[in-house]
Amino acid sequence: MNIQNPEGYKGKHTADATTVEEGLAIQEEQAKYDDDFATETAMANTLLTPRFYTTDFDELDAIDVSGIREEWDALIAQMASDPNKGHFKKNDDWDHVDWDGMEPKLKKEFIDFLISSCTAEFSGCVLYKEMKRRGNNKDITQLFQLMARDEARHAGFINDALREAGLRVNLGFLTQAKKYTYFRPKFIYYATYLSEKIGYARYITIFRHLEANPELRFHPIFKWFEEWCNDEFSHGEAFALLMKTDPKLTSGGNVWWIKFFLTAVYATMYVRDHQRPAFHEALGVDPDWYAHEVYTKTSELSKQIFPITLDIEHPAWQRNLVRLQKANVQIAEGKQQGGVGGKLRELAGSAKAARAFVALFMIPSKKHKVPEVTRLEPVY
Ligand SMILES: [Fe+2]
Ligand SMILES: [Fe+2]
Repeated sequence: MNIQNPEGYKGKHTADATTVEEGLAIQEEQAKYDDDFATETAMANTLLTPRFYTTDFDELDAIDVSGIREEWDALIAQMASDPNKGHFKKNDDWDHVDWDGMEPKLKKEFIDFLISSCTAEFSGCVLYKEMKRRGNNKDITQLFQLMARDEARHAGFINDALREAGLRVNLGFLTQAKKYTYFRPKFIYYATYLSEKIGYARYITIFRHLEANPELRFHPIFKWFEEWCNDEFSHGEAFALLMKTDPKLTSGGNVWWIKFFLTAVYATMYVRDHQRPAFHEALGVDPDWYAHEVYTKTSELSKQIFPITLDIEHPAWQRNLVRLQKANVQIAEGKQQGGVGGKLRELAGSAKAARAFVALFMIPSKKHKVPEVTRLEPVY
């Protein structure tokens, strides 16, 4: 990353940055030291950890939004008005965090949650920024600039929280060193649309739960989740509109891809969340209840553009999520065990995981008519 004159950003906060370049430069400037643990965790590439993506930027740049101009302009105007400028920084609402007094298992899982969230935010930031840099299409570059701006702020805010625990994800290093996965633009649409909408559903569910049970809020960052998820909601809206420009993306054989991405995104969330039992217990959230709640919201939202939703009430759904999660525990145990025995255990676990995933994928989906007007408001 080439940041010119980072000195000029001294004293400014990522929350006030109006462009992604500025937001990233501030974070470079703040980097007084690199934390190997946090950055190494963020560097990990497994099926379950956030990845960095690259795509065919020319194809994306060629999108013509004139057919959806009215909905598009309204969304861009709303994002450009920047309702959350200055929001993502610590203020009087930021209560003192007793990191040393935090129960060790909770601390470990919570830090893992923050690092993985920061990596996911930054993954979006890098992809959106690159699109903005490479494109010539004014509609597209403007949208991606606005989304990258938001993600840089989100990542910066999580790094603020991590810094209090003596940790920091080195975003400059990640940009250079993390492996990039190539996805065709249509896969970027499906995956990113879903990750934005499920991100909204996850954050708003936690926010509402803690609003009703404030005594369970063990860290102040949750107070920021409402505005935060409204940003993600808008990003999801943008991807819904991008998909709307080409009806082929959401019909015919592509509906199978949509089903695949829905299944993969939902299943990944289930397995990952079950790796953090102490974190969910501290929040007073049953991960099974939480998963079902988030799937319900995400499915309701994704009807705006996808002609199918997954049948999450089907008896085989929960059963196979549990099988998948147990298989993943077995894989992790095999890895830890090592040697031939460990490898065999890992392979057996992988076979079980694959069977469970196929079983989830084979559950008949629910079909419905996609509405004429796409745009939604965040109402949860
Ligand atoms: Fe974000
Ligand atoms: Fe986002």
